[in-house]
Amino acid sequence: MKTEIIKIVGSPADESNKHALDRAGELIRSGELVAFPTETVYGLGANGLDAIASKKIYEAKGRPSDNPLILHVANREMIDTIASDVSPLAEKIIASFCPGPITLILPKKATVPDGITGGLMTVGVRMPDNDFCRALIKSAGVPIAAPSANISGRPSPTNAEAVYRDMKGKIPLILDAGPCKFGVESTIVALDENETITILRPGAVTREMLLEICENVRLDPAMSGTQCENIRPMAPGMKYRHYAPKAPLTLIEPQALEIDAIMKILRHEIKKSEAAHKKIGIIVSDEIAAMAKDERLVPREYVVSYGKRGDLKNIAARLYDSLRFFDDTDASQLLAEATTRKGLGLAIMNRLMKASGGNVIC
Ligand code: TXA
Ligand code: MG
Repeated sequence: MKTEIIKIVGSPADESNKHALDRAGELIRSGELVAFPTETVYGLGANGLDAIASKKIYEAKGRPSDNPLILHVANREMIDTIASDVSPLAEKIIASFCPGPITLILPKKATVPDGITGGLMTVGVRMPDNDFCRALIKSAGVPIAAPSANISGRPSPTNAEAVYRDMKGKIPLILDAGPCKFGVESTIVALDENETITILRPGAVTREMLLEICENVRLDPAMSGTQCENIRPMAPGMKYRHYAPKAPLTLIEPQALEIDAIMKILRHEIKKSEAAHKKIGIIVSDEIAAMAKDERLVPREYVVSYGKRGDLKNIAARLYDSLRFFDDTDASQLLAEATTRKGLGLAIMNRLMKASGGNVIC
């Protein structure tokens, strides 16, 4: 199958975008797959009410069939076509953060096929803050089921080129609206009768932001990574190794993230890996990158900077491209610098922890 990429710029209302949105909507309605932009990462979409169409998503991604898909809606009304109950707390979250980078787990209506929810009685609902995405959903006229548009286990795509690399020949169309604003997937939240929000996956709607509208916000205990691997995560997808570059990755997270401590570990790990004849790539902040280049710890082309220390928005936006960077090189061991776990840092560190398979040096 030939995979076409159509660039979309400006506003969905522009005449020049009409053809692309009509065509994409028609493909979705007729049971085909379309990759499309959201404010978090690119999605791989199918008609969310058509179990056969959604099966194609699992095939294209090589995704385990017990891992449910989330449904993307264009507006508040569409939520009522797929969720059987929207509690007052859910309404509050929707009013505060939608459209935006958050997914709510809600009780599902019978209209949502079991094949999409992996047999669960709940459905993940998301209203993306991307005009093209919502215009596409309107054009299709149905909720769009979509995971991230990567091959299962790989870092999510934050631009159309990354989608093309993973999906070339497998899908007919990619809508290209340039790089995604946030770069990490949506925050997933489950709600209970006790007015408690449980974060199943951290994202750009942070725990701190949720605490502003609800007193009780907790993290799914399974999210803390390797220490709790025997606990079953509430989001089935969170149990898999994820976001992983091809070479193994070790995360460097000394107490207080002091520059001297990071450099000390870097020097030690690089020496050790070189003795084992490994080619090392490092994924670090601008500050550490400059020092590593000065000291010639590794050749310059094996240093990738993800942005200034503490500039979490920028780091999140560049994270997956940084992780994918070394896939085209002969690097056989990667070392990455940790960020804070506060605010958006919780999402960044969650992805880095998974990418490393829990391999952390403190
Ligand atoms: O930002 C995002 O959420 C992106 C864009 C494309 O919207 N989508 C995305 O989808 O990240 P995916 O499939 O890669 O991740 C969805 C996660 C999976 O871990 C899945 O297990 C979980 O959501 N999930 C889906 N439905 C669920 C449900 N009913 N209960 C619990 N977890 C659910
Ligand atoms: Mg994914």
